[in-house]
Amino acid sequence: MRQRLVAGNWKMFGNCAQNQLLLEGVAARASAIGRVSCAVCVPFPYLHQARSVLANSDVGWGAQNVHQWPEGAFTGEVSVPMLVDFGCRYVIVGHSERRTLFHEDNQLVAAKASAVLEHQMTPIVCVGESLEEREGGVTEQVVSRQLEAVIGKIGVDGLSRSVVAYEPVWAIGTGKTAAPEQAQAVHAYLRGQVAEHDDNVAQGLTMLYGGSVKAANAAALFGMEDIDGGLIGGASLNLDEFVAICKAAAG
Ligand code: PGA
Repeated sequence: MRQRLVAGNWKMFGNCAQNQLLLEGVAARASAIGRVSCAVCVPFPYLHQARSVLANSDVGWGAQNVHQWPEGAFTGEVSVPMLVDFGCRYVIVGHSERRTLFHEDNQLVAAKASAVLEHQMTPIVCVGESLEEREGGVTEQVVSRQLEAVIGKIGVDGLSRSVVAYEPVWAIGTGKTAAPEQAQAVHAYLRGQVAEHDDNVAQGLTMLYGGSVKAANAAALFGMEDIDGGLIGGASLNLDEFVAICKAAAG
């Protein structure tokens, strides 16, 4: 059976006081769920806080981005070894907000995934099409190109140590969730693409759906055959919502 995962993506939200309540709540309530791994990807300044609160819980923590090089004169950037220093297990790479707002292309995303794997952390590799691309009928080409660039860099072996998140851009933060069947169709397509490289890796690959997942729609999405959990933005900032989504993934 594939590992199921629910990861919160806090984006650029939070402060010490609010985070403390949220982290303590997640540690107390999400730890006991079982059958699903739970994690939170917090802004860099709060990694220390996440580690302090979550260290003795079953909840993992991680970052939302990283630089692809281990060190150097890159003012304002954060390296993979720094994330290791803070006990991170996961790093989101290629989120659509990074791709569009910060101009990250497929090659850069692949380089970041590779750097994360070199340090034994798990990249959560995001792929997804824009509304224009979906309406233009090129969803499969877009997500396939995004994933193939990463496989080209890290190989199918690297992919077996990664998590893939399908996040249609038009569903992120918009309240418009993909219908479970729509999401499932893309997940099945991507798993098929991986199977062309290696069927075992394809069958074992944890694939998350992201984009306006809430407690109210999580069970229907996670009930689909190829959806193994979620990458949760807005709803991960609400303790009750996030815990309910984690429970939905546990089935
Ligand atoms: P959302 O964000 O759940 O707020 O739509 C998901 C994401 O961007 O990872």
